[in-house]
Amino acid sequence: MFRAHRDALRNLLPPRSLAIIHAADVPATNGDGTLRMVPAADLFHLTGIEQEESVLLLAPDAADPGSREVLFIRQPNETSATWEGRKLSKDEAHAASGVARVRWIADLHSVLHGLMCESERVFLNANEHERARIDVEPRDARLARELIARYPLHRYERLAPLMRRLRAVKSPTEVALLRTAIDITDAGLRRVLGTLRPGVHEYEIEAELIGEFTRRRARFAYEPIVASGPNACVLHYNDNDAECREGDLVLIDVGASYANYASDLTRTYPVGGRFTPRQRAVYDAVLRVMRAATGRLRPGLTPRDWKRAAQLDMNEELLKLGLLTKDDLSKDSAEEPACKKYFMHGLGHSLGLGVHDLAPVNGPFEPGWVLTVEPGIYIPQEGLGIRLENDLLVTADGCIDLCAHVPVEADEVEALLAR
Ligand code: GLY
Ligand code: MN
Ligand code: MN
Repeated sequence: MFRAHRDALRNLLPPRSLAIIHAADVPATNGDGTLRMVPAADLFHLTGIEQEESVLLLAPDAADPGSREVLFIRQPNETSATWEGRKLSKDEAHAASGVARVRWIADLHSVLHGLMCESERVFLNANEHERARIDVEPRDARLARELIARYPLHRYERLAPLMRRLRAVKSPTEVALLRTAIDITDAGLRRVLGTLRPGVHEYEIEAELIGEFTRRRARFAYEPIVASGPNACVLHYNDNDAECREGDLVLIDVGASYANYASDLTRTYPVGGRFTPRQRAVYDAVLRVMRAATGRLRPGLTPRDWKRAAQLDMNEELLKLGLLTKDDLSKDSAEEPACKKYFMHGLGHSLGLGVHDLAPVNGPFEPGWVLTVEPGIYIPQEGLGIRLENDLLVTADGCIDLCAHVPVEADEVEALLAR
């Protein structure tokens, strides 16, 4: 898989190009603390390497065939072995990635200088996610600054748009990993269905989820949202510290990450085991919008049109629920959708090595893309928030719901809670 990913990138590079792909920084916290490093998705996509301080160079036209593809890794030593444990040997890095030539990171600058002298265009990476918040200069940016200062006359190009195109389309192996991640999330949610009752705290639900995930060699793909009652109206709530009360719903937005592939699901359950008629009406409205959007997803459609169609569905549902009036609907437009008062977030996003994975922003959707579909209705004045979220694979003529086996019908949820 990683070899195929590198071949795909090479096919997009113009003649005499050099592409440089870095590992992520280990994120610092307080004092000498660090967080567990999340592997850089682009480096992982191209090599399967998760180790810090690794670099991949691709120079498909280099005169020396041995320099056309080189992976640099840290040289293990006694200190790193004592404090951090085993690091990859060159043979292990080769076996994991398929990259023919593996060298120690200390050699990077001399090899890089040779390749710079042969190359005309240099493809450098950057985090170009639309909503990325970057307060600390990342490794990629530091390298770009250094190279541009040292070799000002080269042509520098953006690698990110190429990676975005490549990573959007998932191979069958990647889809299989995503399915595993979804199945692990399903197991966690079923565990919650077996333990949910009034008096349980949101953090106890989180504990059930991480217990199930860890046992299955997965991690949280993102900080989970376990939001009961009015907390569900806070879109990015993750205090997860309130007691779940009889009569409330609990919204659980959680995804397992397996082999770095993220799932992203949301389910909303009645804490006491039964939906009230009002909760059920809102729940079924959200579910209908999700089903209709799933039915519409196909290649050629743009994200904008997909979202707009769901907003029109949602307008009608909110009218039936008495939350919007005909007058509200008459003022609806794509810029100011009427439903925005109760459904204020996007319809879905690409999923893969990141939970908000990279894909061309304006689409159109292509076979192999994996997307979430996640409509919601949030009514703070009723202390009620409902979102449902599944993961969809775009196929040649529609899509496959990868979460079709995860209980979502209200009757099924109630029956599982009754058990
Ligand atoms: N859990 C993040 C999202 O649903 O997009
Ligand atoms: Mn989610
Ligand atoms: Mn999502």
